[in-house]
Order: sequence, then structure tokens, then C-alpha cells
Amino acid sequence: AEKAAPGIFEVLKAAFDFYRAALKKSPEAIAYFRKRGVEGKTAARFGLGYAPGGDDWQALKVIYPDYDWNKLLTEAGLVIEKEDTKRRYDRFRDRVMFPIFNQRGAVIGFGGRVLGQGEPKYLNSPETPVFEKGRELYGLTQARAVIRERNRVLVTEGYMDVVMLHQHGVEYAVASLGTACTPEHVKKLLKLADEVVFGFDGDKAGRRAAWRALENAMPLVRDGKEVRFLFLPPEHDPDSYVQEFGREAFERLIDEEALPLSQYLLRELSLQVDLTAEEGRAKLWHIAHPYLDQLQEAPVLRLLVQKRLGELCQLSQADMSQLQAPR
Ligand code: UTP
Ligand code: MN
Ligand code: MN
Ligand code: MN
Ligand code: MN
Repeated sequence: AEKAAPGIFEVLKAAFDFYRAALKKSPEAIAYFRKRGVEGKTAARFGLGYAPGGDDWQALKVIYPDYDWNKLLTEAGLVIEKEDTKRRYDRFRDRVMFPIFNQRGAVIGFGGRVLGQGEPKYLNSPETPVFEKGRELYGLTQARAVIRERNRVLVTEGYMDVVMLHQHGVEYAVASLGTACTPEHVKKLLKLADEVVFGFDGDKAGRRAAWRALENAMPLVRDGKEVRFLFLPPEHDPDSYVQEFGREAFERLIDEEALPLSQYLLRELSLQVDLTAEEGRAKLWHIAHPYLDQLQEAPVLRLLVQKRLGELCQLSQADMSQLQAPR
């Protein structure tokens, strides 16, 4: 029988092995991970690696001598071909590498971080036939068993957040890969566990991402599920927080301070109005209503949020039923 042509998965696996071996040979990359607090055991668990840089723009030639015409390398997102000159070169150069796995444990893509300063800070694989950014969760392979056991999943923004949380024993953490948390992500997360905690960075971008996650979660959440939002101090992300304060402090924050979706929603909307004025309370009712309508799949939660909204607006049950009576 004819030998099957190497597929995209094989190319990605070969690159993965190459980057891991290159890490062992790079004192700079090892020093970088050490400076970030990553232990050897953690690096092995996440398959961390290093893509060589230097003068050689075609480091992957070591494993693919047919580099210059091998279209699979481009298809896998590992090699870029310049449109005008047709010159080919490695996408990832002089970066520490975070492999991304699919459900079956096959490598489907990478994120690569510069060792020092530089733009972009993280370079990710492009969309390929096997890598769809809006669906994948970084760290899910490593986290799956504990997510099931704890019936809880924590969603963070970044590679380092996941890696360091796991190293500190918070092994139900995954990341949405920098992109906003999409409806596909939320669907997946709600299937994985009954409790979904969003733990984004404390900065402005993180807070914006949290609100987007709320908007995406509202139409999908069902009664019996618990979606919560963890707000870290502005200068922290989960990585820096767990390294500074430890696992117990981090998990206490989740247990005691993470806001349920309902409270986050009403808090943010309340901040937009003046609750001491009738107009402000009427406006709150007005702007909150479309959000309540989003809770189609969670009728009980919806009713409870509406009750709480009524209290904030100082509307009685009778007032509210009058508002809702068909005209
Ligand atoms: P952050 O800027 O918060 O980075 O972006 P980080 O994860 O804390 O990185 P460190 O700690 O400086 O190493 C959060 C996530 O957004 C995506 C990455 O997935 C990153 O982990 N991102 C960020 C990119 O894809 N590209 C970028 O240039 C920056
Ligand atoms: Mn950030
Ligand atoms: Mn961050
Ligand atoms: Mn960080
Ligand atoms: Mn309505």
C-alpha cells in the first residue's frame, strides 16, 4: 500500500517536538521561563518550547529539508511565504512557545511570546483547517479532569495565567486565547461544568472582556448553572496574583468575591443612572429590560433578577405587573 502523505497534524507534532528540544538547548529561553517562575515540571506538562531566532529564518528546515516547497508547513501556519518574492520563512522566531492542543490531545496551533520587549508580545497561529481560534480553550487538555471533578471552570485571558494557576494547584483554569470569549466558548464552558468563573485581568481591557462575556453568556445560561465574574485589583492578572498571594488567597477571592452574573449585571447598569431620582430609576428599568429578555433559557433566574431590579427601582410587585400587562 502507498504510504499516506504526512498530514497537517504530523507537521504540527514535528514542530512541537522541535520547539521542546530547542528549549532544552537555549539558555536564554530557559532563563526567561525561570524568571517568570515556571518550574520544569510545569514546562513539561504544558509542552512549552522555544522557536529559535538568530540569522536563520528557516530553523524548521532541520526537521523539513523540503522546507522550500512543502506547502503543509504554510497550511499548518508555521511558515510564511512572502507574496512578492515567494521567500519562505518561519512564523515563530526567537519566541517561547505555548502549544495548543485539541480535545484528543493533538497539537493544533501555537502561541509564541517574545522574550523581552517587542511587538506583538504574543504571536498566535493563524486560523488553519485544524485551528479555529473562537472555539479552542487553552489548557483544556490539562484541566479537563479537574474541571469535571470540581464541577468548576475558570476562564482567564492568557497563556501564562493558565500555566501559573496550574502550577499553584488551580487546575481548573483555561484561557480563551486573547480573543474575546465567544458564544462558542461560552457554550463549551457551560457544558464542561455547572460553575463557570470568568477571571480576566484587572485592567480596563479585562473589564471590557468581562462585560462581553456577560453579554455572550446571558442567552445561554440555564437555571442550575452559576456564572460568576472575578475582578482582580487593576494591577493584577491571575498569574501575578497567584504568584504574589498564593493559591488559597486566589481561591478565597473566587469563593467570596466573585460576582454572580445577576449582581454584576445590576451593578454595572446601576452605575449608569442616578438611583436617587425617579428619572434615574425609570432609566434603570428601561435599560435593564432588554438584558432581562436575554435570559430566555433561565426563567427562574430571570424572574429573580427582575424582582431585584424592581427593588432597586422602588417598584412593587403590583407596579411591575401593571407595567407588564398587555395594553
Ligand atoms: P496580556 O497582555 O494580558 O498578556 O494578554 P499576559 O497573558 O498577561 O502576558 P504576560 O504575562 O506579559 O506574558 C492576554 C492574552 O491576550 C493574548 C494572549 O493570549 C495573552 O496571553 N495576546 C496578548 C495576544 O494574542 N497577542 C498580544 O500581542 C497580546
Ligand atoms: Mn491584559
Ligand atoms: Mn495579563
Ligand atoms: Mn500576565
Ligand atoms: Mn420585556
